[in-house]
Amino acid sequence: MKGVILAGGLGTRLNPLTKVTNKHLLPVYNKPMIFYPIDTLIKAGITEIMVVTGGPHSGGFMSILKNGHELGIKHLEYAYQEKEGGIADALSLAENFAEGDSITVILGDNTSDADISSAVAGFKEGALIFLKEVADPERFGIATFDPQDPSKIIKITEKPQNPDSKWAVTGVYIYDKQVFDFIREIKPSLRGELEITDVNNKYVEKSKLAWSELKGYWRDAGTFDTLLEANNYWAGKPKERK
Ligand code: DAU
Repeated sequence: MKGVILAGGLGTRLNPLTKVTNKHLLPVYNKPMIFYPIDTLIKAGITEIMVVTGGPHSGGFMSILKNGHELGIKHLEYAYQEKEGGIADALSLAENFAEGDSITVILGDNTSDADISSAVAGFKEGALIFLKEVADPERFGIATFDPQDPSKIIKITEKPQNPDSKWAVTGVYIYDKQVFDFIREIKPSLRGELEITDVNNKYVEKSKLAWSELKGYWRDAGTFDTLLEANNYWAGKPKERK
């Protein structure tokens, strides 16, 4: 399976830091943020990777990642997202790269030490999303479970004011090739973005959305507080496991 890291957007929540560099190149302890999702893919045996980026500082990715070989990537491609069209818009740029196969997608500001290799190896069809229980569900896509069958998701709501659960959709997803058709079907949200939550709800409609708990540490480092938390976590982790 191939992997896609979505590192577009303007990172305005981290202004003024993101006035001079791309959010995903900011340090998380001893590495640029984007190294963490790359490591998660490599640990899962995924060595063909596309990085989707955008904005005024996208050239920095080339300086740091080069051809990816130093990080264990065998084949690295880049795509450029014009404007901040949303996560699903960024993912649409990976259609040719995917070549009709399933893909593992990670948001470039997510850092995790979870091992997703068995999920990747066992994936057959539909979509598999990874959830994590959080204290601040208003910040995330949140799962609503079927009251008759709590193992089943009946909808996902993006940043709900009154969340149905505390189970957040992390930025780690596995999709079959249908994902690109679903992206073509969805419309921009009120904030003008093609939402990955709308894509996931398309899979719910077809009863093709499976989920699994993301085991281990996970944080999206997209705000000052979570960036600091992620830095502290990785700084405190024993060296051999970094
Ligand atoms: O971190 C998990 C959450 O990520 C999920 O729970 C939400 O359902 C999902 O919508 C997303 O929410 P955020 O508000 O945190 O997304 P954000 O706009 O910060 O974008 C996350 C990453 O996605 C960003 O680091 C780069 C990529 N992205 C985002 C946008 C808007 C792109 O590549 N292009 C874009 O246009």
